[in-house]
Amino acid sequence: MNLTLDSGAERDALHLGEILLRFESISSTNDIAKRLARKGLPEGTVVLAKMQYLGRGRADKSWFSPLGGLWFSVILRPRVPPSSISLIPIAAGVSTARTIRRLFQLDVVLKWPNDVMAGARKVAGILTESSAAVDGCYVIIGFGINANNSCASMPPQLRDETISLSDMLSSEINVDRLMQEHLKEFAEVYGMILTNDSADLVTEWKRLTDMLRQPILVYEDEASFEAIAVDLDSDGALLVQTEDGTLRRLLSANISIRRVK
Ligand code: BTN
Repeated sequence: MNLTLDSGAERDALHLGEILLRFESISSTNDIAKRLARKGLPEGTVVLAKMQYLGRGRADKSWFSPLGGLWFSVILRPRVPPSSISLIPIAAGVSTARTIRRLFQLDVVLKWPNDVMAGARKVAGILTESSAAVDGCYVIIGFGINANNSCASMPPQLRDETISLSDMLSSEINVDRLMQEHLKEFAEVYGMILTNDSADLVTEWKRLTDMLRQPILVYEDEASFEAIAVDLDSDGALLVQTEDGTLRRLLSANISIRRVK
């Protein structure tokens, strides 16, 4: 395991990335970030890896993390009411979509809660994990961005569902710059939660999604049901209307959804 520690990286209001731990190859940046959070490392600490051999995704899925991708996790220690914690994944998705749109002029959109999509193919995914520790609550946000890893090298089952920025742009991108710009954007959007501007955050998520008023398939545990995505609630829950007209709030890490074509 090869590790370098950068301190004093470009500062922003929330000091994201002031402590930056770079790894060549590790199990999962979320796992290492969690270990460091338990040891007391401060909010804003970033763990970055060139590749992960046990990368994890939402709903207990694995996350393919070869060289070329941008895989990193951020430690947060939010001092906000529990009702605002559920907005952190929403903020993470908004910041990722905004960064990609601004840097590369790509019309990516959000799929609830925070998948960044180009059409039906996923460009980036986010894994949020939180825990109440002795010295307060911490949240780990793991960002996985398919950057320079071509989808031609993906396992066959992922090839049709995934796309990378270099595939879309037909050129290599600067992943260090992408991460620095992303950290600045995330600091700004996360700041909306800290300063009680959550209503603006919810509005921004709705601007960046194309799934509202569309039919979706909701997978919950072993079952699935059809619904219409109606709205994003003020705490980040997705409001859906089922076929019998019932309104339901989806707010679970283990729910996944699919657009009905
Ligand atoms: C998903 O869409 O299922 C979430 C994928 C999250 C992947 C990132 S890569 C960096 C961080 N470390 C992990 O093990 N997972 C997240």
